[in-house]
Amino acid sequence: MSRLYHVLTWGCQMNEHDSEKLAGLLEGLGWSEAPDPENADLVLLNTCAVREKAEEKVHGMLDRLGHLQRTSRPDLLVAFCGCVGQLRGEEIPRRWPFVQLVFGPRNLPDLPAMLAELARDGGPVVRTDLSANNLRLPGTLARRDPERPKAWITIMEGCDKSCAYCIVPRTRGREEYRSLDDILAEVRLLAEEGFPEIELLGQNVNAWRDPATGAGFDVLLRRVAEEGRGAVRRIRFATSHPVHLSSAIVRAMAEVPEVCDALHLPVQSGSSRVLRAMRRGYDREGYLRKVGELREAIPGIALSTDVIVGFPGETGEDFEETMTLLETVGFEQVFSFVYSPRPGTPAAEIEDPEPRERKVERLMRLQERQKELQLARNRSLVGRVFEILVEGKARRDSTEWAGRTTTNRVVNFPGPPDLGPGRFVRVEITDAGPHSLRGRIVPEGAA
Ligand code: SAH
Ligand code: SF4
Ligand code: F3S
Repeated sequence: MSRLYHVLTWGCQMNEHDSEKLAGLLEGLGWSEAPDPENADLVLLNTCAVREKAEEKVHGMLDRLGHLQRTSRPDLLVAFCGCVGQLRGEEIPRRWPFVQLVFGPRNLPDLPAMLAELARDGGPVVRTDLSANNLRLPGTLARRDPERPKAWITIMEGCDKSCAYCIVPRTRGREEYRSLDDILAEVRLLAEEGFPEIELLGQNVNAWRDPATGAGFDVLLRRVAEEGRGAVRRIRFATSHPVHLSSAIVRAMAEVPEVCDALHLPVQSGSSRVLRAMRRGYDREGYLRKVGELREAIPGIALSTDVIVGFPGETGEDFEETMTLLETVGFEQVFSFVYSPRPGTPAAEIEDPEPRERKVERLMRLQERQKELQLARNRSLVGRVFEILVEGKARRDSTEWAGRTTTNRVVNFPGPPDLGPGRFVRVEITDAGPHSLRGRIVPEGAA
C-alpha cells in the first residue's frame, strides 16, 4: 500500500498553487492523498506570514499533530513549509520538536531530496535558501482538481518592492520570471486538458518580463490568449501593482476578449501621506488616474482592492481619505485588515501609540460602509444577463449551481443536475445581497 500525504494550506493563491505542486511532487514519488491529517503518514503545513493572525493559525494544527504523534502515531511525519517556514526556519523544530522538515517557498522543488535526506540521516532537515529557483518546476506537475474550471499558472516568484509593512519580500525573495515559452507551453497543455479559465499568478504579476526578450506583461496577455484561443475562454491574473499597470497593459486588457473585465488592484490607503510612509510608489491621485484610465478603456470593469487600516501614524483624517476613496472608486470587493506589525519590516520600528481598539473601530466602519456600497451595486445588477462559468454546487444549497461572471461575481442559480463545472450558461440576475447574487438561467438567444 502506498504511503499517504495530506497538505493543509493557508494564505494566498500562490500558496494554494504551491500546494498543488507539493501534491504533484509527492504523487510522482508514489504517495497518495489521505482524506484528512489523522490518516496521513506525512502532513505538510503550507503557511502564510502576512499578518500575525495568519501566522498563528497553524499553531492549533501543530498542537493537534503533536498530540497525535505522541499518543498514537509515532511514525507521523510533519513538514512545515510556506512563508512562515522561510521566516522562522530553525526556530520551528526547536519549538515543535516533532516537526522533522522545514522549508520555504523557494525550496519547494527540493522536497524529494529533502525526504531522502530525512530517511537517510534523520531530522530535522531545514532548507530556507531564498536564492533557490522554484520556477524550474514545470507547472504541469501540479495536481489540479479536474472538477475546478480554473487552472493557475505561476509566472513569477518573489517581490522586489519594499512596502514598509510587508513581510513577503523576506519570505519569497527577489523577483524571478518564468520564460514566455515555458508559460505558453503550460497554457497549451491546460487548454488540451480542457480548462476554460486560466489565472496567471505572481506577487507583482504585472511586473513580469520575459527573461530572454524583455517583452512585458501586455505581450504575455496577448500571447496567452492566442495560445489558448478556442479552448481557454477566460484569463485572469493576480496580484497587480498600481505602479506596474502601464497603458500598454490596459490596452491589452481592453483588446483581448479572453481577458476578464475584473482587476484586483490593491490600494492600501486613500491618503497620499500614508501611501508615502508605506513606500507604495504612488499617491491617491496616481491611483485614481489609473482607475480612470481602466474605466475609460473597459467600461464594465470590476475593481477590487486591499486596504490596511491603522498603519502607524494614520490619523482620523487619513482614514477619512480612505473612506472617500471607496466612495469615489466603487469597488466590487474590498479585503481590509488592521495593520499587523511584522518582524524585521521598517514599519514595525515606527512608534504607534494608537490603541488597537480605535483601529478595529475604523475597520468596522469601513467594512459596514463597503457592505452598503456593495449592496447598492449588486441591486443595480438585477435584471441584467451575464455569461456565467459554472464552478460547482452552490455553497448554501447543494441543489443549486454557483458560477462567476467575467467581473468575478459569484452567482447562485437553480439549474439542471447535469450542468456541471466548466460549462457556460446565460443567467439573469433576479436577487442581490451585499455578498451574493442569485439568478435564473435564460435560454441562448434571449435578451
Ligand atoms: N503583492 C500584493 C499583495 C501582497 S500581500 C500587493 O502589493 O498588493 C496581500 C495583502 O495583505 C496586501 O495587499 C495588504 O493589504 C495586506 N498586508 C500585507 N502586509 C500586511 C500587514 N503587515 N498588516 C496588515 N495587512 C497586510
Ligand atoms: Fe508586499 Fe508591497 Fe511586495 Fe505587495 S508589492 S508583496 S505589499 S512588498
Ligand atoms: Fe501569505 Fe506568503 Fe502569500 S505571506 S499572502 S502565503 S506570499
